[in-house]
Amino acid sequence: MPILLSLDLPISSPQINNAYIRNTAEQLLRLTGKTDYELSILLVADTRIADLNRLWRGKEGPTNVLAFSLTEGQDTAMAGNLLGDIVISVETAAREAKRAGRTIHQHLTSLLVHGLLHLLGHDHERSTGEAEIMLKKEQQLLAKIRTQRRLEMIRLAVNVDHVATLREARGIKEPDPVLAAGICELAGAEGIVVHLREDRRHIQDRDVRLLRQTVQTKLNLEMGAAPEIIDFALDLKPDMVTLVPEKRKELTTEGGLNVAGQQKKIKSVIARMEKAAIPVSLFIDPDSRQIQASKKVGATYVEIHTGCYADAENEDEMEREFELITTAAQEAYESGLRVNAGHGLNYVNISRVAALETIEELSIGHAIMARAIFVGLDQAVREMLALMI
Ligand code: PXP
Repeated sequence: MPILLSLDLPISSPQINNAYIRNTAEQLLRLTGKTDYELSILLVADTRIADLNRLWRGKEGPTNVLAFSLTEGQDTAMAGNLLGDIVISVETAAREAKRAGRTIHQHLTSLLVHGLLHLLGHDHERSTGEAEIMLKKEQQLLAKIRTQRRLEMIRLAVNVDHVATLREARGIKEPDPVLAAGICELAGAEGIVVHLREDRRHIQDRDVRLLRQTVQTKLNLEMGAAPEIIDFALDLKPDMVTLVPEKRKELTTEGGLNVAGQQKKIKSVIARMEKAAIPVSLFIDPDSRQIQASKKVGATYVEIHTGCYADAENEDEMEREFELITTAAQEAYESGLRVNAGHGLNYVNISRVAALETIEELSIGHAIMARAIFVGLDQAVREMLALMI
């Protein structure tokens, strides 16, 4: 079921995840039993769709989606194995998505469903009865897609370091990061992350030992490559470790690990972890050199550093950084590495990253804990998960 996807968009257009569109279209062909057919999808700007709207429908101005069946008027609306073309204006879609409070990719899914139903012979403009049938079919298809997506959904791992930061500020027993981890898991998080720093500024050895016993999902121990911490990890046997660069004076992890520049050292840490059956993830910048080096030293995962995307000061910079993340995640995925991402992700910037199908898991700490102060931890986790669908 080939999907012919073409993009004819200005640079200012919102960034579209091609793999997402292709996968959604394939999913739709499967759900409608049309896997033997070809579908062409064209993503354009308002000016182009306005031209088509004028030419073929005699209507002025842009619209969100147009569908051109190859055998207009016939029952099945199919010619050979070609279903036809779906043309979508990404600019109109972006405006509509913003108004409806959804991500552009969620809205593009609805428009693809709408366009495909037209190609399959439905037309809401024919009569009220037809409109009702088409709407019902649309809702059914969207519900099925959502169910499948939920099953394949990207996972959320919550970093509970900041709970310990608050506790250490007073030097007493609360709040407890172990209790916080349990609440995160009950709310739907599928992993707990803690960074055991050499200076023990937040998480303490005892926390990690307790978490090893209580975490029901997956415990990811973030750590620098100091001998003392390596021994701790080998003894503790977390479900995975994430190697990060660690500087005493930094407020938080500042950049990715320079894997390319210290391959021997990292390779030997990975080999020791491997012997203890602990998979290793390397926290790296979205940079091809670091991806290739991570592959070479035998990492199982990379965690792509999303901090520059999160900290971007204007839209252009954000687009550039997002493009780097997309390309890096794709390259890592294609090279056989498993891909996670994190740092600086929050309720505003997460959706686009969560829509990348090459990424398995997002690691988020600060934004969730900051919101938890006001709405409670359970709700803060649930709200983040709702943005990851
Ligand atoms: N991933 C890594 C490797 C980190 O060091 C951190 C910060 O501890 C995070 C993810 C989470 O970042 P944030 O707290 O900004 O969500």
